[in-house]
Amino acid sequence: MSSRPATACGQTEAQPAGVPADGPARAARAPGRRRAGGRVDGDAGMCARHRVGSGAALEPEAPPPRASRPTTAAPDEAARHTRAEVNLAHVRHNLRELEACLGSVAAAAHGCTPERTPQIWAVLKADGYGHGGRAIATTLERAGVRGLCVALLEEGIELREAGVRCPILVMGGYYGRQRDGIENLVAHDLTPVVYDAGQIETIASTLRYLRDIGGLAPGRERYRVHLKIDTGMGRLGVPDGELGAVLEALRAEREIELDGLMTHLACADADSLAATEHQLDRFARGCQRVAQAGLRPKLRHAANSAALLRLPHAHLEVVRPGIALFGVHPCEGRSSLVPRAPHLRPVMRVLTEVVALRNLGAGESLGYGHTWRTERPCRIATVPVGYADGLSRALSNRGALLVGGRRAPIVGTVSMDLTMLDVTDIPGVRVRDEVVVLGEQRGPHGTDEITATEVAGLTSSIAWEVLTSISRRVPRFYRHG
Ligand SMILES: Cc1ncc(COP(=O)(O)O)c(C=O)c1O
Repeated sequence: MSSRPATACGQTEAQPAGVPADGPARAARAPGRRRAGGRVDGDAGMCARHRVGSGAALEPEAPPPRASRPTTAAPDEAARHTRAEVNLAHVRHNLRELEACLGSVAAAAHGCTPERTPQIWAVLKADGYGHGGRAIATTLERAGVRGLCVALLEEGIELREAGVRCPILVMGGYYGRQRDGIENLVAHDLTPVVYDAGQIETIASTLRYLRDIGGLAPGRERYRVHLKIDTGMGRLGVPDGELGAVLEALRAEREIELDGLMTHLACADADSLAATEHQLDRFARGCQRVAQAGLRPKLRHAANSAALLRLPHAHLEVVRPGIALFGVHPCEGRSSLVPRAPHLRPVMRVLTEVVALRNLGAGESLGYGHTWRTERPCRIATVPVGYADGLSRALSNRGALLVGGRRAPIVGTVSMDLTMLDVTDIPGVRVRDEVVVLGEQRGPHGTDEITATEVAGLTSSIAWEVLTSISRRVPRFYRHG
């Protein structure tokens, strides 16, 4: 949970007025635009009523893009130019693309009755996959998602405090050792995922206690939960052998209403779908046992992004996409796996700028451990981004960042706060030129893009980890278009 109060519509600051999508650093260099402390004035914001600054007067001909203040670091703390730009219009676009996938499947299967189109419950754990959970949640709720899923109780509370009203499923299943975790859950109207009889009994006894002390709102006497069935992930969820006891507990506790049944797929993005089909069969059998026990949950869900895109029969009543909403195709580079690939747009760009330049002669070494040595006279740019920001140290002497629309190889060891780039082959690089760490850059030398999937490939990781690694000290700036 952020220590900062909810500021989705807080005072605006941050994005320079009139900044082109690809050029905050360039625009920031325009004379008269910087104020003391290195900040840039701007007319930008999610809420017009909070607008500050005088961007229009500074650059009347260019309508400023809308952006809000960062949520992970206050502007005054963010004197460094390194930042993440989060494009909320792209989130909405990706949602529409996923809806279109569901819609076409529903149309084919059921004659397009809206009731039969699966609901989308967006997975926004880990601060919305690193994009800022509150802004993404409010954007998606306004755009029509029917529910949200988080891992932690505190993530759910954060979204409620940001004003989210739709159901929020807390998937992690741990609500603290004390009763106050469950009390918090109830106070914030969060839907717990349960998978053992003990959890069910604890929730029920907490509800009885709250009812007895008059702490339950009228109509809240029965509390909705979702039951997770383990069908092969082997992580969380009730195993086959314990399902009987869990169903007994659900039937016994009148305070609890079983509203949903879920499972999680381990291999939906794998080349072979055999393991996933096996999991779906086991889930279907689990659902049957629930029905035989006389329980009637309204919602069944199993599909993550990959299953949403690949497996229409896994859609059921609810789908739970995460990564696809952030513009990453879960099977990127393996297009044959997805017959109707949606056109997803990456949501996050990470930018920084050149802070120092130096010329090195042939045969000089640089960076911690002197892991790189020049073979010719080189021009080296230093950028203020490092592994503490989420730029993996595994990119040392391997990856590249974009300068002027062209790749500049990372040379030497990525350090905690700083990274060096070989810009010898990129003419005219100057201090304060924009550098793109993640995302697209259009520049004088071309257009290129570094995707989370590409970085993951270089670092033996996955796009999920690349995005969620962009750390708290990188302020997020929100754009609407
Ligand atoms: C239980 C559960 N459901 C859905 C998702 C969403 O997965 P994806 O990001 O692959 O769409 C996750 C993410 O890890 C998850 O843990």
